[in-house]
Amino acid sequence: SILIIDFGSQVTQLIARRVREAGVYCEIAPFQNAGSAIERSRPKGVILSGSPAGVPEANSPRAPQAVFDLGVPILGICYGQQVMSHQLGGRVEAGNNGEWEGEFGRAFITITEDCPLFDGLWAVGERHQVWMSHGDKVTEFAPGFRIVAVSDGAPFAVIADEQRQFYGTQFHPEVHHTPDGAKLLANFVHKVCGIEGDWSMGAYRDAKIQEIRDQVGDGRVICGLSGGVDSSVAAILIHEAIGSQLTCVFVDHGLLRLNEREQVESLFRDHYNIPLVVVDAEERFMRGLEGVTDPEAKRKFIGGEFIAVFEEEAKKLGGADFLAQGTLYPDVIESVSFTGGPSVTIKSHHNVGGLPERMNMKLVEPLRELFKDEVRVLGKELGLNDQFVGRHPFPGPGLAIRIPGEVTKERCDILRKADAIYLEEIRNAGLYDAIWQAFAVLLPVRTVGVMGDYRTYDSVCGLRAVTSVDGMTADIYPFDAAFLSGCATRIINEVKGINRVVYDYTSKPPGTIEWE
Ligand code: XMP
Repeated sequence: SILIIDFGSQVTQLIARRVREAGVYCEIAPFQNAGSAIERSRPKGVILSGSPAGVPEANSPRAPQAVFDLGVPILGICYGQQVMSHQLGGRVEAGNNGEWEGEFGRAFITITEDCPLFDGLWAVGERHQVWMSHGDKVTEFAPGFRIVAVSDGAPFAVIADEQRQFYGTQFHPEVHHTPDGAKLLANFVHKVCGIEGDWSMGAYRDAKIQEIRDQVGDGRVICGLSGGVDSSVAAILIHEAIGSQLTCVFVDHGLLRLNEREQVESLFRDHYNIPLVVVDAEERFMRGLEGVTDPEAKRKFIGGEFIAVFEEEAKKLGGADFLAQGTLYPDVIESVSFTGGPSVTIKSHHNVGGLPERMNMKLVEPLRELFKDEVRVLGKELGLNDQFVGRHPFPGPGLAIRIPGEVTKERCDILRKADAIYLEEIRNAGLYDAIWQAFAVLLPVRTVGVMGDYRTYDSVCGLRAVTSVDGMTADIYPFDAAFLSGCATRIINEVKGINRVVYDYTSKPPGTIEWE
């Protein structure tokens, strides 16, 4: 395997992802734990990550000396290159020393010598785009190294010591904006480290199952299902590992999409045979939402009530030792603490945040290292079909944040019907997978219409569809007019209570994806 030593870069997980894409198993260890991780996993290669810190700063992190004595190839990326140069006898200078201001963003390097990292990829004399983000730079490399690529700002864009098989790149090969970066990392693991790329999501699944067994022992685990892909995949994986030690709880807060509860019941109970408790809490949520129109007040009430319901059910089940969650890597902001010993500070947001402490449960989060599309691959590995793993995201507060103004059961029912028609049309047109998220909203205004010979005075339905990579930014999906008018006609004809349909043309920013 490959060991990635994390110095706290925001993109360390992308290194892991690229290594996995190259078909090689890898682990990430915070730099404080790197020594024990080396002993445990006996890696065939090591990658040193970037960092927000600077090598010349006091107390900035270092790699354990043992890494350099292992006799296996090392690739240092950005800070990783600098810390390796420093520890092996080179010199790193701080930025902001007058004329040098660092390189940030797109940069170009020129290849000056052959090197195994460039095999079949880059040749001497060529210029290639890379992505840089550094203020400090190496000014004197360590004995044994030579320069194999330069950039305008960094004469040590890539350095190599082929004797020891130590390499360093000042740029970030793991990010998207270094177009050949994934291939460069693949060269490192395949050609330099000599590891064959035969690792797969199937192997990942087996490794995770063993990990879950080791963590849980004969303890009991409870998992809150949302109907979404992440919690479903987490639950199915955990069930494979520990069988009936897992109980799933699904809270029907009355804010779900059409038939969603039935789909979850049939998938979990009938198909996977996983113990499932379904809580019918619709009345309770609707009562609490009476008269609530402020978006944040809705969200706070729903979040709090959700925890209360979940806690009650957990108690009825006799408690649990662990709470399982489908937390993904993008949900986790991990900051490596530079001074406070081996602890890793974690901030994450989820529906049942706060519960583990209150109920004295530990967390099982088997998807923490994965990105959304990797979870989809794992889901398929676990037998979920394409349609299920490809589902659009759905927010925890559900339809409540798609009904501006007061939420009532009647309005939820109207919205459910319109939303189902819209999504059916999208699926029939073969557009579902090209869209990140599509949904209907029900507006708190009524307008006048005419149907047959009658005057109508009903609600307005808004349609939204966006493309996005991660939900952080989004563009509207450009349906053609005929498609939208087809949806509008069907919704107005088939859904009592709606007599006008509009399309939302707002990107994010300045809008958000949800309306509240
Ligand atoms: P916004 O509306 O902020 O949404 O542009 C970005 C993405 O996050 C989803 N979303 C949520 N997901 N709980 C969730 O689990 C929430 O409270 C929540 N609010 C928004 C939203 O659907 C979109 O995918």
